[in-house]
Amino acid sequence: MTENGAGARDGGIVLHVLGARPNFVKAAPVVRALEARGAAQAVVHTGQHYDERMSEVFFTELGLPEPDVNLGVGSGGHAAQTAALLTGLEAEFLRRAPRLVVVYGDVNSTIAAALAAAKIGVPVAHVEAGLRSFDMTMPEEVNRRVTDQLSDLCLVTSPEAVGHLANEGVAVERIHFVGNPMIDTLLGNLARFDTARARAEHALPDRYVLATLHRPANVDDPATAADLVGHLHGVADLADVVIPVHPRGRAALLAAGLDEHPRVHVREPLGYLDFLAAVRGAAAVVTDSGGLQEETTVLGVPCLTVRPNTERPATITHGTNRLVTPAELVPEARKALAAPPVPANRRPPLWDGHAGPRIADVIMEFVRG
Ligand code: UD1
Repeated sequence: MTENGAGARDGGIVLHVLGARPNFVKAAPVVRALEARGAAQAVVHTGQHYDERMSEVFFTELGLPEPDVNLGVGSGGHAAQTAALLTGLEAEFLRRAPRLVVVYGDVNSTIAAALAAAKIGVPVAHVEAGLRSFDMTMPEEVNRRVTDQLSDLCLVTSPEAVGHLANEGVAVERIHFVGNPMIDTLLGNLARFDTARARAEHALPDRYVLATLHRPANVDDPATAADLVGHLHGVADLADVVIPVHPRGRAALLAAGLDEHPRVHVREPLGYLDFLAAVRGAAAVVTDSGGLQEETTVLGVPCLTVRPNTERPATITHGTNRLVTPAELVPEARKALAAPPVPANRRPPLWDGHAGPRIADVIMEFVRG
């Protein structure tokens, strides 16, 4: 990856800003497709996620290039983290003078990059634009809305997102329905999801429910976390529960006695390949993640999402996802475990493994234009 290749003469540098785990999974196919088109690219890692298991393992497994710089922003409250992101990113943008900044998803690194770029007149492309939960208590919803307003290219994964953007006054020529690059990564790596190996390596039981919980609304308040743990123990009465614990919820979930049920198996965060292998081998998934709702849809694994809403309704209409309250977890898990296997590959439109090339085509047209 070079900042001075053919693409630099042919439109300038395309600068990707990556910060958190889900960004890496979405960016890999875009970077690869731009590489194939001869674009000059640079990658700025903000350092929002920094543990080896939250960051480096994804770069290695997904073949992402080593970041050109890591800003080492780290953790903090929204204001402190976003302020550090803005300051660090603006300096990078001024120094590198990119033709376009590409941001992914809905994390704090995404909104900060869009804001820093827009303020100094650098165009922004937003991959995964237009998703809406209509729940402004979620930091991600704030991040999505502001990022989309600031973006010159809104690259959309799902048709309803086009309507959301139009309703918010985004000009139609800025909106491009390109499909879902997270699914490119999934389909491109399917043969590497070795469930038997993951089972052996991480001592997974034969039949299990895979759980991931990290949303502030579920894990930040000790009483809410304790209630959720009680219901997870109820699920563990039905089947073993494997839970790779995100650092955000670790303390609260363990303090609430998460690992005190003999059939709850707490694990460290897994790398991409082991995690998706574990998902593929699961009888059902319990989650509050956004991306996992999409991945289970394509893998045909029943997914119970512990949230009152989702910004990804296609995972319900086309996929395996159901929204549940904590109190519904046990009865819904019982149903999911008793149901016949769901056919895999019920995919929403353009979740076909070719979103990366479509995004790269839109970007190349923009930077050359
Ligand atoms: C962030 C995103 C969320 C996304 C999630 C994916 C925001 C507002 N939230 O949430 O949308 O679903 O990433 O994982 O951007 N920590 C570590 N090591 C790390 C990273 C974080 O220990 O490498 C711990 C720290 O205690 C930190 C906490 O996790 O305070 C939260 O990290 P942060 O990046 O602020 O938010 P996430 O909960 O990871």
